Amino acid sequence: MKNVVVVGSQWGDEGKGKIVDWLSSEADVVIRFQGGHNAGHTLVIDGITYKLRLLPSGIVRKNKISVIGNGVVVDPWAFLEEIKEIKSKGVEISEKNLILSEAANLILPFHREMDEIREDTAGKAKIGTTRRGIGPAYEDKVGRRSIRVMDLISEENLNHRLETVLMHHNAIRKGLGKEIFQKDQLKKELLEIAPEILKYSQPVWKKIDEFKQQKKKILFEGAQGILLDVDHGTYPFVTSSNTVASSAATGSGCGPNSINYVLGITKAYTTRVGEGPFPTELTDSIGEQLGQKGKEFGTVTSRKRRCGWFDGVLVRQTIKISGIDGIALTKLDVLDELDEIKICIAYKLDGKKIDYLPAAVDDQLKVIPIYKTFKGWKSSTKGIKNFNDLPINAKNYVSELAKFIETKISSISTSPERNDTILIEDPFNN
Ligand code: IMP
Repeated sequence: MKNVVVVGSQWGDEGKGKIVDWLSSEADVVIRFQGGHNAGHTLVIDGITYKLRLLPSGIVRKNKISVIGNGVVVDPWAFLEEIKEIKSKGVEISEKNLILSEAANLILPFHREMDEIREDTAGKAKIGTTRRGIGPAYEDKVGRRSIRVMDLISEENLNHRLETVLMHHNAIRKGLGKEIFQKDQLKKELLEIAPEILKYSQPVWKKIDEFKQQKKKILFEGAQGILLDVDHGTYPFVTSSNTVASSAATGSGCGPNSINYVLGITKAYTTRVGEGPFPTELTDSIGEQLGQKGKEFGTVTSRKRRCGWFDGVLVRQTIKISGIDGIALTKLDVLDELDEIKICIAYKLDGKKIDYLPAAVDDQLKVIPIYKTFKGWKSSTKGIKNFNDLPINAKNYVSELAKFIETKISSISTSPERNDTILIEDPFNN
């Protein structure tokens, strides 16, 4: 029996939706363990489009249990809205197939406002966040003043917790010349929705233990990408959670030995949304072409994604940091028309050649990529399902890429359609 973790190996948007959907059809349980409704997956199943932000991908499939772990930050209104939206498409959602950790931390309206205030006043230091309140909510969690799902049980407790957190926020708001946030109205609104939220609330660690005893297959569904990890990413231009695979254990309540296979979703080129270093970024017509052909617009914020060549140095680094066993290479077909294709194989920093991305953001902004150039294949790979049917130059590109990043390829995706995949190794059954 294998439990699989899926993570993005770049800056998010690697095409996790398609792969997670395929794997969730095999899994019994799908667990989100970090992030919040800053993530976005679009799933198309039997012609129906589902846009998921917070709910695990298993939710749209029958007989699967979907779990939101303690590591996720949950906007309770966004949570209920998404349930309503998905239910309106004919999907059954109840406490039987959706579990919310009682220990998950809430994103409240003052978090969203703080995210906006900070972004709007940051000038050059702007992160380019999704403005969903993710960062401020995680700050309150670590600051030990957060409100968790379980705090909705008692009015007295909620009142006390709100007083604590608002004392902190209102001090900052006053300092920034903003109106102070009123407790009573928020408390009233939270108490109104509390029964709807609490009906999904359970100790997730205990449920995972039961699932393991029942030999259920678990898929841990990561959001964002490893380069956005708060410790290992391009700090401070990162999200506020740990996006690495080991976060699946802490963010849900099981040990690292519950994870048997780490699948890294990896795009055949690179994209990034928001600000921050991007050594292989292409601001020319090739970057534009990648964006157009790859439909590189954000699912959550509709922002245009920055595009560039595949950065082998970075992906090799994230593979090691996250313990990735195999990669699912996505969007190979987006490269079909290019005359030549490049992979970054090292950087130059202050005249010296280096083989990793340094931790200091100033250095990250300064590195100059050193490329290896490959001949394009100039023919369609769309829909190819067998490795041997790929054009010779595409085979060469993929094989060299895998060799460089020192990992095996578990699958190659050749179109957004679920079946257009070259499957080399099934993470659940290898
Ligand atoms: P936050 O997560 O909203 O705080 O945003 C922090 C950074 O992470 C910004 O650069 C966002 O664009 C980026 N980010 C957050 N979620 C995603 C995602 O799901 N895909 C890609 N980038 C994301």
